[in-house]
Amino acid sequence: MSSFNFEGRDFIDIKDYTREELEYIFKIANRMETIAKTGSSLLRGKILASLFFEPSTRTRLSFESAMLRLGGGVIGFAEPSVSSVAKGETLADTVRVVENYADIIVLRHPMEGAAKLAADLASIPVINAGSGTMSHPTQALLDLYTIWREKGKIDGLTIALMGDLKYGRTVKSLAYALSKFNISLVLVAPPQLKMRREVIEDLKSVGMEVKEVTSLEEVIREIDVLYVTRIQKERFPDLSEYEQVRGSYRVDPSILSLGKSDLIVMHPLPRVDELSPEVDKTRHAKYFKQTWYGLLVRMALLALLLGAIK
Ligand code: NCD
Repeated sequence: MSSFNFEGRDFIDIKDYTREELEYIFKIANRMETIAKTGSSLLRGKILASLFFEPSTRTRLSFESAMLRLGGGVIGFAEPSVSSVAKGETLADTVRVVENYADIIVLRHPMEGAAKLAADLASIPVINAGSGTMSHPTQALLDLYTIWREKGKIDGLTIALMGDLKYGRTVKSLAYALSKFNISLVLVAPPQLKMRREVIEDLKSVGMEVKEVTSLEEVIREIDVLYVTRIQKERFPDLSEYEQVRGSYRVDPSILSLGKSDLIVMHPLPRVDELSPEVDKTRHAKYFKQTWYGLLVRMALLALLLGAIK
């Protein structure tokens, strides 16, 4: 029995949860490692509605797998064209209907604030599985958990977020999550893809040390974690802008050989050409392990929000 209260809560923004609450979720995620292999009936009779208005592989399948491994059921759609959204139904109406069919909703949507809107309307918990370009809190949770598991700690590390920091949402949620710990943050991006000013101001306002550079070479020797992201082609308002930055950075074993021997490389995936497959066989690569950790974290989150674990 913990002193935390997760039951019935939404998971919309990483900022809504304290460092202690996040660490508690990690402890429960550790316990899920065995259950993930043996299966469980912890959530028997509970139903997850998985509503995906944007493409996804890992987030959707890991939530669905998490629910099934805990003995619950899953309903939903993987693309809006097969639901009544194609007939013009609003998100608000979809949510008001689905809450009658399920105990918890996992929602991904291209609109900023979509998950918040759904949570305000629904009487059951809503989990944000990515909304617009600003937030992807469960990805941040699994990213933090990966660092914690692989490095044994988070405090004291120098962590670089690299790539499309402008349109990428994982990097923003992760930066806010990291601001709850004592770390040095390095932002590595071409000038056109820099992190938005207001996010950097927010991070600095809570005392975080933030450094911005345009190339990995400048910082490779000092970092403990390198978090690489793809260019979010589909979010560029103007494709010619994308063409200008396309292929502008790439991580390969030769640049990693200049870094610390225990440097870990993470990526939310999918990757395109920014992370060479050659890195996969190096000791640095943790991105496939990260997807396993994602399953454990999502199992923990479902069990906590549904009140099956206190
Ligand atoms: C990310 C997303 O949807 O923002 N994918 C994911 O959930 N792992 C990253 C991306 O699409 O680049």
